Amino acid sequence: MFERIINKLRFNRARAEAHLPHHTYKPKTREEFERLPRHVGIIMDGNGRWAKKHHYNVSRGHRQGTEALREIIRHTSHLGIEALSIYAFSTENWRRAPEEVAALMQLILEFFASEIDELDAENVHILIFGDKDGLPEKQRAVLYEAEARTQDNTGLKLNICLNYGGRDELTRACRKLAQAAAEKRLDPAQIDERMVSDALYSAGQPDMDLMIRTSGEMRLSNFMLWQAAYAEFLFPKVLWPDFTVRDYDEALEAFGSRDRRFGGRKA
Ligand code: FPP
Repeated sequence: MFERIINKLRFNRARAEAHLPHHTYKPKTREEFERLPRHVGIIMDGNGRWAKKHHYNVSRGHRQGTEALREIIRHTSHLGIEALSIYAFSTENWRRAPEEVAALMQLILEFFASEIDELDAENVHILIFGDKDGLPEKQRAVLYEAEARTQDNTGLKLNICLNYGGRDELTRACRKLAQAAAEKRLDPAQIDERMVSDALYSAGQPDMDLMIRTSGEMRLSNFMLWQAAYAEFLFPKVLWPDFTVRDYDEALEAFGSRDRRFGGRKA
């Protein structure tokens, strides 16, 4: 078992080195590694504007956005970052035109069909944050299967937020804790931050350190409200389909030079 994991890690490193474009950021010293975020969140904004700018329909924007996403996932995994959370479809996105919603649903199927083998080989653990059961049957089946197939993987935790809302996540956590209290399994006076964290989709994962929202919009839009409490925010102007590994490296380096105090004072 242990040997299998070591071999898989070796294999991943060889693949990673074969794939890495020359310009990508590679922390060399222990100090540089320590300045990387443990958990990155990304709001992939600007697909619609990208499509408009190129006179395409919005679905083409989302498709191009998925291409950008593949590269960012791969790079995050190679850097050894623990968790990447991406906002792919919010509980509010159902309000969009039916054709756009259908295109996004189709992209989910295509994304998993084309990526699951590589992600699994890369030791990525896929988690779906959000209400999977509110999605169409085909998508639901694919998502449950991806989670089950990768659940023992020990590399990057890839949290894909689908039919997700931060308030909805917190409401579900409250319901869970209230249920435990009603069944006398929990004393309400004992509820602390750790218990709330453990009732979220992200149970056991580090808090979000860095939140990137592309396209210049500066909003959190109901994305991982609890986990982002102390995150550093970056708002690059680039539209998501144009966001490259180089832009990502710049964001990671900018994060590394931020002075984080978590409400305290610098020593
Ligand atoms: C926001 O851009 C983006 C979305 C609502 C969807 C993002 C989804 C993907 C990139 C691909 C799907 C992911 C998977 C895992 C298959 P927008 O359309 O709101 O942009 P705009 O503000 O310019 O209109």
